[in-house]
Amino acid sequence: MKNLLKMADLSRDEITQILDLADQLKYERKHGIPHPKLAGKSIGLIFQKSSTRTRVSFETGVYQLGGQALFLSSRDLQIGRGEPVQDTARVLSRYLNGIMIRTYAQKEVEDLAKYGSIPVINGLTDYCHPCQVLADLMTVREHYGLLEGLKMCYIGDGDNMANSLIVGGLRTGMKVSVATPEKYRPAADVLAEAEKNPDFQITTNPKEAAADADVVITDTWISMGMESEKEKRIRDFTGYTVDDDLMKCAKSGAMVMHCLPAYRGYEITEKVFEDHADEIFEEAENRLHAQKAVMVDLFADPETK
Ligand code: CP
Ligand code: NVA
Repeated sequence: MKNLLKMADLSRDEITQILDLADQLKYERKHGIPHPKLAGKSIGLIFQKSSTRTRVSFETGVYQLGGQALFLSSRDLQIGRGEPVQDTARVLSRYLNGIMIRTYAQKEVEDLAKYGSIPVINGLTDYCHPCQVLADLMTVREHYGLLEGLKMCYIGDGDNMANSLIVGGLRTGMKVSVATPEKYRPAADVLAEAEKNPDFQITTNPKEAAADADVVITDTWISMGMESEKEKRIRDFTGYTVDDDLMKCAKSGAMVMHCLPAYRGYEITEKVFEDHADEIFEEAENRLHAQKAVMVDLFADPETK
């Protein structure tokens, strides 16, 4: 792996390797075993959007790996004043050993990798959120002991989370069912690929999607950048709330996950959220371990891996 720009960059074997390493790093962290695999490395973290989990898990993750993390807000960088990404990429490549970027356009992440000479990790774009989905797959695998054959159901907006969950779930041998309103379907390229797979189902009916699911996943109806559509989206997503009634369609004891931040009373009820809080916060913790595994793979010297 040279970069992590989107979930489709990872083969099934690469996903398994990352999850195995993430499990090992989590174990070492819990047992106080140091793993300074990025000693002497400087990693830039570029944020054009807000973040709690991604920022804190990357900053602490780099620290735990013995490296230096630089938080680079676009409010302060010249990129925020119009310096081209091509120039930013070539400059930062001369100072840093790796970059994580959270931004709007997927093309910006692709260009950073194209024009720079250091590995790039996508920390969320409008199109995808691969770091979150690696943590999600890690959490499901920890819970059930495997991924293959399990049914993952996603309810809500066909957004960055939906796009990455579809690719990640199918690639690891899961069955994936998705329910979105007609106007909020996942990206066309993701659907075109997924629809070739008999394990994929898409519908506008949340209960149909949730039938016999082992894992039910949702996300906000109003992603970052969509704030002006708030009222319209709340109307359009009526009926797509993950509530007790919907959970009755899933397998008994099914997991519920949410990448957070969660908006109770909209995409998920307070009750379902709190009933599954252990799973949801384990998922949030696993961001740290999964991303450390990605960083070791991309940024560490071969002899230290
Ligand atoms: N799930 C997630 O990416 O959270 P943040 O937006 O807080 O980073
Ligand atoms: N779909 C959400 C995910 C937040 C982590 C957003 O893009 O805002």
